[in-house]
Amino acid sequence: MKAAYIERFGSPDTICFGSLPKPKPTGSQVLVRVKAVSVNPVDTYIRAGKLAVGTPMPLIVGCDLAGVVEAVGPEATRFAKGDRVWGSNQGISGRQGTFAEFAAVDQQWLYPTPENVSDQEAAAVAMVGLTSHLGLFREAQLKAGENVFVHGGSGGIGSCVVQMAKAVGARVLTTAGSDEKVKICRRLGATMVVNYKTQDVDVAIEKFGPIHVWFENLREHDFERVLRHLALRGRIVVMAGRESHPVFPMGLFYWKDAQLLGYALLNASAEEQRKSAAEINRWMSKGKLRPRIDRVLPLSEAAAAHQLQEENTLGKAGTLAGKIVLVP
Ligand SMILES: NC(=O)c1ccc[n+]([C@@H]2O[C@H](COP(=O)([O-])OP(=O)(O)OC[C@H]3O[C@@H](n4cnc5c(N)ncnc54)[C@H](OP(=O)(O)O)[C@@H]3O)[C@@H](O)[C@H]2O)c1
Repeated sequence: MKAAYIERFGSPDTICFGSLPKPKPTGSQVLVRVKAVSVNPVDTYIRAGKLAVGTPMPLIVGCDLAGVVEAVGPEATRFAKGDRVWGSNQGISGRQGTFAEFAAVDQQWLYPTPENVSDQEAAAVAMVGLTSHLGLFREAQLKAGENVFVHGGSGGIGSCVVQMAKAVGARVLTTAGSDEKVKICRRLGATMVVNYKTQDVDVAIEKFGPIHVWFENLREHDFERVLRHLALRGRIVVMAGRESHPVFPMGLFYWKDAQLLGYALLNASAEEQRKSAAEINRWMSKGKLRPRIDRVLPLSEAAAAHQLQEENTLGKAGTLAGKIVLVP
């Protein structure tokens, strides 16, 4: 089968596109004929060797996928040949990745794809949808009527946070780095959008009102700023920035009965992720959640896709508004 893989950690051009043996599903694995995959910032960290834990080589890159069940292992009970499925959590923790024509994935990491959702949308929502849902609901316990702040409402995580917060009746203030992206955030349902390059975000938050859930998806943290705008009993969700060592204003924090909640998707149990996936599927079926796809490329362009993701995540190029989806 054709696959995008690495034989050593390194820059995007270490990704080869070539033939590897088609996997056979064992135990409770399901063999998925991959129809679409999407790129996440973490894919670039894994490829660069920053999260190297028991990584098999060659490593097929990629965490997210959507496709059709081709065959099932002897202990797989959840899916049957022909079912449409999507999932995340691959290409890490010793598991092979998804950027290939076929992927053998344990059934615990797969969910049914709703009829009215395309494979490209299902692949695009996978990691960012699960992560946003866990942050907003398992961690921050967001409720209707509360105020949410998230940076980058046209990005992978940001666009999910905006739509999910809206779906439960919360108000959302988000930011964007261009007027075109401001329009995208409005179309996604944000209550207020600020162009952070041309407008004063702090003034906008003052107008919007105290923030009950600050969903921090940037890799740098400014807790002075966050705590200034946080409501009494506000929750700060952090899920990015492994190298960040911010100053923490303790007085502002406890005086507001605030909570600081950190988490990583990969630590969530299969059951927790399945619960989030079920809600994501319900919202996607009803048209309340649509992942932002910036562009669709052939799988043979995996190296270029990594380069583009890296330029945006690390280089802040601002040339993406949502997910890069690849098709085998
Ligand atoms: N903990 C976990 O399990 C987990 C899971 C998934 C992702 N993550 C992390 O979450 C982060 C976001 O992922 P993503 O997939 O959403 O990435 P993304 O699609 O590249 O989005 C990043 C967003 O950040 C915005 N941004 C960049 N610099 C900014 C600044 N100075 N001020 C305001 N906004 C700024 C961008 O907005 P503009 O384009 O408008 O500039 C963009 O929308 C990554 O660091 C990723 O590693 C963590």
